[in-house]
Amino acid sequence: MPHALQLIGVGPGDPELLTIAAVRAIETADVVAYPVARVDADGMAWTIASRWTRSSQRRLPLVFPMVAEAEPRLKAWRHAADALASELRRDLSVVLLCEGDASLFASSSYVQLALRKRHPDLTVKLIPGVPAVCAAAAAGAETGIDWPLALQQDGVLIRPCPDHESDLERLLELAESSSMVLALIKLGQRWPWVRACLERRQLLEASLFAQRVGWPDQVLARAIDIPAESKPYFSLLLIRQTWPEVLP
Ligand SMILES: C[S@@+](CC[C@H](N)C(=O)[O-])C[C@H]1O[C@@H](n2cnc3c(N)ncnc32)[C@H](O)[C@@H]1O
Repeated sequence: MPHALQLIGVGPGDPELLTIAAVRAIETADVVAYPVARVDADGMAWTIASRWTRSSQRRLPLVFPMVAEAEPRLKAWRHAADALASELRRDLSVVLLCEGDASLFASSSYVQLALRKRHPDLTVKLIPGVPAVCAAAAAGAETGIDWPLALQQDGVLIRPCPDHESDLERLLELAESSSMVLALIKLGQRWPWVRACLERRQLLEASLFAQRVGWPDQVLARAIDIPAESKPYFSLLLIRQTWPEVLP
């Protein structure tokens, strides 16, 4: 019976934020697979977890192109599933590293689905990781900004930042009327117009900006202190419009 493919959430940046289960699985794997955007890149997940790997392990970079078209992505997922299946069928233990958590907007989820479809006899195991959104809320406290993600009857909506201002406006209204904290990922280049929208609604003070959380060049600040310039892909925003009535 082949080993299960293990999808490992490695957290958002700090190698100390991997779980013990994740470190054990990585340390004992024969093959360490990880997503890359280009063949010559190392990839975030590998860089985060490399401290826990050994030079004797086989490295298996899997290219997942960051494009909008369906066909290249479908091809990449099929290729990844087949490449991983072939290692598992050689009776090797294989981990696939995933930045943040392994089921939250994760490339590894597509591999999981492709493997199930193309190799239904193989099994998959997930080891969850710390999502960037949770790490951002936690990092806030270290910089003097207390940012509990959810309290009492709050909801939390984690989603990619909309592409259009009118959609963001609608989202903010919905979030306010339903006591929902918004966590907008994939903020990056949208930041200049998102900032202007939040400024008009006087929400900049109430929003936390996080860039490359857990990395040495991490930026964590109230949104009001972040200039209106395009930001890297690894940036996100937490927006809280309401607080529960009874608080310390
Ligand atoms: C494809 S999603 C991956 C989410 C990841 N699986 C998780 O659980 O956090 C990528 C987005 O997550 C956010 N993100 C991931 N890592 C981050 C980090 N270290 N700092 C800030 N944002 C991050 C960014 O908004 C980025 O555009």
